[in-house]
Amino acid sequence: MAIRLAPSILSADFAQLGVEIDRIRPEADWLHVDVMDGHFVPNLTIGPPVVRSIRRHTDAYLDCHLMMTDPGDYLKAFAEAGADSCSVHVEVGNTADLIAEMRSLGLHAGLAVNPETSIEECEPWLDRIDLLLVMSVHPGFGGQEFMPVALSKIARAASLAQRDDLALTIEVDGGIDVRTAGRVAEAGATMLVAGSAVFGQDDPVEAARAIRRAAEQAVAA
Ligand code: DX5
Ligand code: ZN
Repeated sequence: MAIRLAPSILSADFAQLGVEIDRIRPEADWLHVDVMDGHFVPNLTIGPPVVRSIRRHTDAYLDCHLMMTDPGDYLKAFAEAGADSCSVHVEVGNTADLIAEMRSLGLHAGLAVNPETSIEECEPWLDRIDLLLVMSVHPGFGGQEFMPVALSKIARAASLAQRDDLALTIEVDGGIDVRTAGRVAEAGATMLVAGSAVFGQDDPVEAARAIRRAAEQAVAA
């Protein structure tokens, strides 16, 4: 399975977002867009108007991670702004309706799971989503330490996806760098989100390549 990379613009310079996106674009299979509501997580970031501006600027796949208590109030706005996928957190509940709403809006449907939440909470939905987003940090901030609890969840989801022949992208988010990329790829993650390990580096393009290389070497070994 090929490893893909989703640089998180959370760690980019928001005053130069277009420049940052253009620079990383050749290494970005997706762009990961972190949306925080100051309620589900103790931080605020960006919303549909910024997604709309990014959409006008690039054809990149926009993978919107909605760290929000009430994502259902905003799905339509994200779809209209040009999001390709939205991921809602399983912890906010109402999962069946949220998945149905994402589908009816033409979005790829993602489900995100926090470090302290059991993967079993997600299992009933795996055949109805496109994307499982396994958090390997507590959501809210970039630059945190990778939490190994994500590994067994990734492995469990990967084995269920294989058993049931599901077209499921398993994405991992938080603390991904050259040291952790191989571990998550070996466990079965196929989409790696990286923020500070890409945009926080002097050469983000080379940093992204190095992360991809580390992951690919681990799965080839
Ligand atoms: C954290 C966000 C992440 C964040 C990852 O709440 O969901 O996407 O950007 O940043 P790093 O890669 O620095 O851990
Ligand atoms: Zn994220």
